[in-house]
Amino acid sequence: MSQPSVSRMSTPLDVAAIRRDFPILERRIHGRPLVYLDSAASSQKPLAVIEAISNYYKTSHANIHRGVYVLSEEATLAYEQAHERVARFINADFEEVIFTKNTTEALNLVAYAWGLRELRPGDEVVLSEMEHHSNLVPWQQIAKRTGAQVRYIRIDAQGKLDLDHAAQLIGPRTRMVSVTHVSNVLGTVNPVQELAKLAHAQGALICVDGAQSVPHMAVDVRALDCDFYAFSGHKMLGPTGIGVLYGKRRLLEAMEPFLYGGDMISEVTLEGARWNDLPWKFEAGTAPIAPGIGLGVAVEYLQKLGMQAVHAHEQALVRYALEQMRLIKDLEIYGPEAEARGGVVSFNLKGIHPHDMASILDQHGVAIRGGHHCAMPLMRILGVNGTCRASFYVYNTVEEIDVLIEAIGEARRLLHR
Ligand SMILES: Cc1ncc(COP(=O)(O)O)c(C=O)c1O
Repeated sequence: MSQPSVSRMSTPLDVAAIRRDFPILERRIHGRPLVYLDSAASSQKPLAVIEAISNYYKTSHANIHRGVYVLSEEATLAYEQAHERVARFINADFEEVIFTKNTTEALNLVAYAWGLRELRPGDEVVLSEMEHHSNLVPWQQIAKRTGAQVRYIRIDAQGKLDLDHAAQLIGPRTRMVSVTHVSNVLGTVNPVQELAKLAHAQGALICVDGAQSVPHMAVDVRALDCDFYAFSGHKMLGPTGIGVLYGKRRLLEAMEPFLYGGDMISEVTLEGARWNDLPWKFEAGTAPIAPGIGLGVAVEYLQKLGMQAVHAHEQALVRYALEQMRLIKDLEIYGPEAEARGGVVSFNLKGIHPHDMASILDQHGVAIRGGHHCAMPLMRILGVNGTCRASFYVYNTVEEIDVLIEAIGEARRLLHR
């Protein structure tokens, strides 16, 4: 593929310049240029992030919060600055941002540290039918252990949450509403602010799975008025091994720690222990120092692009992809109209297993995901075992969507013969 242009699509991003920051995009796969359309699973990394991690190990690595020597002080400062940057990125305070391993661990932290202590028999936890297993299985397990009930907000035929059903379900027994901000399968952007109002009106809390939102749109946790908000670094240009849990300060202060050990204490005696200040109370053991620093640089990169521009770019790509896909015979597309979704398109070609489609597209250099996307209950509701999923990010171009469309057309000819 020659230098990508965005001539057929109006986008606020300079995608050609962005692509030069991502060395992996120069790769060829099966002799073709890589077309990476699986950023919802994990995004690629810009040089700035790769080099920040490499430089940290080359020049400043030491354990943090303990040493009184230069390297340890430098590492501590860099790690804490990353905390600060992430906090500002979502409009939170420094004390309210906990670094975890990923979204999954952040949601488990809420389920265990809040749910296990607070939930009683007869209490209800309200989720939705479109949740990723990470926001489903922890609550199911905690409900089993506490005697609480899990209820599910239905989705409608377009793949949007049924808000009338949500208003019916969220009632006086509800203690927690935990929902995804953006569906990793349907792309649906859920009205988190409205759900927060419904939850708070009943004295319940709201926890938001932001794995597919924070990387792609401006998120202000205060404006949304959510109580907890979880996301992963590796889906937003950062490294693996780092995730984030935001929690309102008064809730985090009242909660017991999730994991116990070093760094999360202020004092230990043979009889017991007292906990460290926020956020360290929830960061037990040696921190993910290099991944944390990498995430800080990823956030800086996204801030320079501007999250409004990132979102507008992805919406333009989705609009174009949906337009082109609707022209393909026998292709079923899941989820709402472009305006109501993030940069994710799930589809199935009649009679073709998503894994077969993903393998054929791979032969064209196109990387998409085929399967249940860790949302098996949603697959059952859609009446499928799996879907193909193309997902877009800041480095994707309209030409890459053309390659995808052409490859799907070829798969159709090959498999429908
Ligand atoms: C909506 C959603 N929630 C949670 C997760 C889990 O993220 P992680 O595997 O980084 O913990 C994902 C990952 O695909 C996701 O898309």
